[in-house]
Amino acid sequence: MTKALRATPLRTEASETLDPQDWNEIRALGHRMVDDMIDYVATIRERPVWQPIPETVRARFREALPQGPSDPSEVYREFSDFIAPYATGNVHPGFMGWVHGGGSAVGMLADMLAAGLNANLGGRDHMPIEVERQIVEWMRELFGFPSGASGIFVTGTSMANLMAVLVARTSALGGEVRRCGVVGEGALLRAYTSKAAHGCIAKAMDIAGLGSEALRCIGVDRSHRIDVAALRDQILLDRNAGLKPFLVVASAGTVDIGAIDDLAAVGALCRELGLWFHVDGAFGALAMLAPVLAPRLAGIENACSIALDFHKWGQVPYDAGFLLVRDGERHRAAFAAPAAYLRRETRGLAAGSPWPCDLGPDLSRGFRALKTWFTLKTFGAEKLGAMIARTCALASYLEARILAEPRLELVAPVNLNIVCFRYRACDANGRADDANGRADDANGRADDADRVNGDIVIDIQESGIAAPSTTILNGELAIRAAIVNHRTDTCDIDALVAAVLEFGAQRSAGGDDALMAVEAPPLAM
Ligand SMILES: Cc1ncc(COP(=O)(O)O)c(C=O)c1O
Repeated sequence: MTKALRATPLRTEASETLDPQDWNEIRALGHRMVDDMIDYVATIRERPVWQPIPETVRARFREALPQGPSDPSEVYREFSDFIAPYATGNVHPGFMGWVHGGGSAVGMLADMLAAGLNANLGGRDHMPIEVERQIVEWMRELFGFPSGASGIFVTGTSMANLMAVLVARTSALGGEVRRCGVVGEGALLRAYTSKAAHGCIAKAMDIAGLGSEALRCIGVDRSHRIDVAALRDQILLDRNAGLKPFLVVASAGTVDIGAIDDLAAVGALCRELGLWFHVDGAFGALAMLAPVLAPRLAGIENACSIALDFHKWGQVPYDAGFLLVRDGERHRAAFAAPAAYLRRETRGLAAGSPWPCDLGPDLSRGFRALKTWFTLKTFGAEKLGAMIARTCALASYLEARILAEPRLELVAPVNLNIVCFRYRACDANGRADDANGRADDANGRADDADRVNGDIVIDIQESGIAAPSTTILNGELAIRAAIVNHRTDTCDIDALVAAVLEFGAQRSAGGDDALMAVEAPPLAM
């Protein structure tokens, strides 16, 4: 039966399709690619974490749109020579900049399988969507959400936070806002987060048409946690002024130092005052997988929505952001939009409603769920949780190294896996950048210290030894090491500390001229 219905191609020229003329050739190339990429990951320590892109390489990527074909093995050679060696570096255990996950071999292979299936997860009735639903279910369980909860994969937490703002907005104003826009009462909406929150929250308010100024940034305590009393005062003040407080975004792991807001207290306040309680758990939410860390997230189970990334602590290759919403109906109410060409059926390929496109702005969506499913199945929650706890233990190790080094100072408490510190730069007379400096030269010395610390970070990045990043804390530039990569070990922390001390001494002694080459690993892929 199936055989009889099989279509006969009209084409006579095989070259009219994009399929290879010789499947064995592409198979051999594919095997080589898999071997090379497995070698790339397995031998990552032998290469620099990152290296600057030579201008000649950059220039190769300014060429005109190719009109004719190229041999795929030639294109692959260009990838090997000019793309792979100049990647971000976050696969490397020495990468500690920003908050980047390290990926995994199994996640990489799963992404290849997803590309092979070329599934579109906007909707329709196929198994890839069931895989995504499986992960929604796992996250629902992990965070203790009820059975009506919904979830969806997105690019990252910036998008998940934006979508949460939209769900909260529609929930506050009703479906009318989707037809008429933010008018009338909408202009009175006010949202709340802490001064330590990620910038994507203000951006989300802007994109949602509410305006970034409708976001109140509340002060934080010494541990960078939102001041809940000040939050309450501001909400009541706004309410008394005739405004419409509708949303609080709490952080489970602030981007700067990994602080976790008091989620139980913020949740209770939101419940009392009738506000949407969203948690930005970009990286911190997955601390739920680690039994030693999970208690610090107490109260997250009461959130109305949670944004998180599997591509950070979850080590799923980029990108794999996720939004979980307690009330699936409200989630759908913010995004579902009927269209004749997206008609749902009870059987056939158009069955299986609701579809993921009812839960977000995207219609066409890739199979991000597959690499996440492979990662969760292959390693299991316990091993992933242990890995997450280990990155925090490494942060404590770095903290101890800093506290033991007179030339280094810790500038923020170490809450989870992020360590912020400074090299104590000396001025021309050899005086250390400490609290004993005279008031009249304090500003100049602080600027100097900022410059030295900024230069140290760039020097280390360019050396290929490690890749820390910077942030500003209390008005001063800090070296920031976010230990996210599962491959990072104590030797990488030691290498970072040694490099900071070495480059710090050279920079303090007189800038570029004094810089001697710190031995970097070989550059070839
Ligand atoms: C707390 C927090 N929120 C949001 C984001 C943005 O996440 P993404 O880069 O996945 O969009 C980050 C990124 O590091 C973050 O740390």
